[in-house]
Amino acid sequence: MAGVIESLRSDHSRMTKLLDALERQLSSFDEGKPVDFDILDGVIYYCLSYPDLHHHPLEDLVFDRLKLRNPEALAGTKDLREEHEALAIHTRRFAAAIRTVQQDIPVERKSVQEVASEFLSAYRRHIMMEEKLFFPAAQRSLKPEDWSTIAGQLKPIEDPLFERREDERFSALYEDIIAWDQASTA
Ligand SMILES: [Fe+2]
Repeated sequence: MAGVIESLRSDHSRMTKLLDALERQLSSFDEGKPVDFDILDGVIYYCLSYPDLHHHPLEDLVFDRLKLRNPEALAGTKDLREEHEALAIHTRRFAAAIRTVQQDIPVERKSVQEVASEFLSAYRRHIMMEEKLFFPAAQRSLKPEDWSTIAGQLKPIEDPLFERREDERFSALYEDIIAWDQASTA
């Protein structure tokens, strides 16, 4: 049963669009061009509201099940729970750095750039590790009953940025992603 992994992979492809949007803003910041703080706010708010509250907890359940069933299958992968805690810390650091700039608190531009690029690369590295190592290991080792148990442990929720789309805090980010997608396929 691959429903859980398919859903996690689909989250990753959406998160990648969001990270790409962030990277475009960081490039503007690096070049001294204006930055859209509504987009940055959307990225931060999304990470706090969906990956931290749903996507990562679901992966943690898969991780725990895999550890129980076949710990050898996890050789080479990182401890997912630790990785998710580290990502949550990166998100909070990034959020604090952006707040500092928004509130005109004196801060070295370089330190904001460093925190933002650490956040971005930690997320990208983590997604790649899961796609290349963790998901295939789970798919090889877990049985249909494991997937049913996992799916029963966490109720699915709608993605607030790409599916529910009711919260205006995501508007600027969503529009930016759609505009970029349209320009890329034109
Ligand atoms: Fe993930």
